Amino acid sequence: FIFNELNFDNHEQVVFVSEAKSGLKGIIAVHNTNLGPAMGGCRMWNYASEAHAINDVLRLSRGMTYKNAVAGLPIGGGKSVIIGNPKTDKTPALFEALGEALERLAGRYITAEDVGTSPADMAYVATKTGYVAGLGDSGDPSPFTALGCFVGAQAAVKHQLKRDSMEGLVVALQGLGHVGYDYARRLHAAGAKLIVADIDEAALERARTELGAEIVSTSAIYDVQADIYAPCALGATLNPDTLDRLKVKIVAGAANNQLATADVGDLLRQKGVLYAPDFVINAGGIIKVCYEYLNKPQADVEAHVREIGDTLAEVFTRADREGRSTSVVADEVAEARFKR
Ligand code: NAI
Repeated sequence: FIFNELNFDNHEQVVFVSEAKSGLKGIIAVHNTNLGPAMGGCRMWNYASEAHAINDVLRLSRGMTYKNAVAGLPIGGGKSVIIGNPKTDKTPALFEALGEALERLAGRYITAEDVGTSPADMAYVATKTGYVAGLGDSGDPSPFTALGCFVGAQAAVKHQLKRDSMEGLVVALQGLGHVGYDYARRLHAAGAKLIVADIDEAALERARTELGAEIVSTSAIYDVQADIYAPCALGATLNPDTLDRLKVKIVAGAANNQLATADVGDLLRQKGVLYAPDFVINAGGIIKVCYEYLNKPQADVEAHVREIGDTLAEVFTRADREGRSTSVVADEVAEARFKR
């Protein structure tokens, strides 16, 4: 690959980590520390090449700066990746070596679990460094991510449909995992009707019996007649193909990187669909993890997560006023906070 073609986008520091004994090959990217030490998870993935790993870590760490800034957290953005198969290549030594590498960075970057890593892996990191969060002692951050999505959806409904209640609204929800199921539970309790898709039959059955959800195939979820589309499984589900099919007025879901390309934000606006930018609406989990790491009162986490609704309301109003996409406006809100 060509070094100059990589999008470093003002990253402060990118460190390659290599340790022969454990076989660790990884990259730590510190995007921005203006607001505080960089925080973001460690992803383990069988990348096709080193270039793919670099691209991923650069993109993800930049994303964390925006997410953390817009959530009003006193932390910057960073991320790390380990190149390897999370199913077959994990050893305690691998994560201990990562911990030693974090220690050498002296707190500029704090890691946590992410795709391919778990609280158990982070416990090995923690034997070598204190610069690790989300160790799982006080549980899973997903319920807070779900709460953020719910208050975000409420803000979107108020703005777009001029309604204070979810009663009778139809939500097409994709992915009944840790976040999606809890979000679905809240929507159901608020009187919304659920149409759901997942590849996990047990999760579908549970949603049908517990939440009265209607089940559709993973492909048909884009075609259903609904008020809200809630992507809670995969990234890049908002693309020109799905845009032609979606019949909703609002997109409000937890998945990371929902826009396949940046211009899709504007296409959604032109289509009259209100998009709750992913990195704003799904910040509940990082808020929870950050409070835990900084020893801030856990009792204050919920109020902070609920502020996601207010932030989104501001983003929606400004996007309307300026005739621009919500995603671009949300980027600017973040930049106003972290750029010096
Ligand atoms: P999860 O792995 O628990 O759940 C994902 C669900 O999607 C599973 O039930 C899976 O069977 C389903 N799924 C997979 N492929 C599918 C398909 N083609 N169609 C429909 N369903 C499919 O993950 P989790 O933790 O619930 O996260 C969901 C999304 O939210 C991810 O994109 C994640 O990056 C994002 N996110 C999660 C946070 C958290 O606190 N867990 C925080 C911020 C973002």
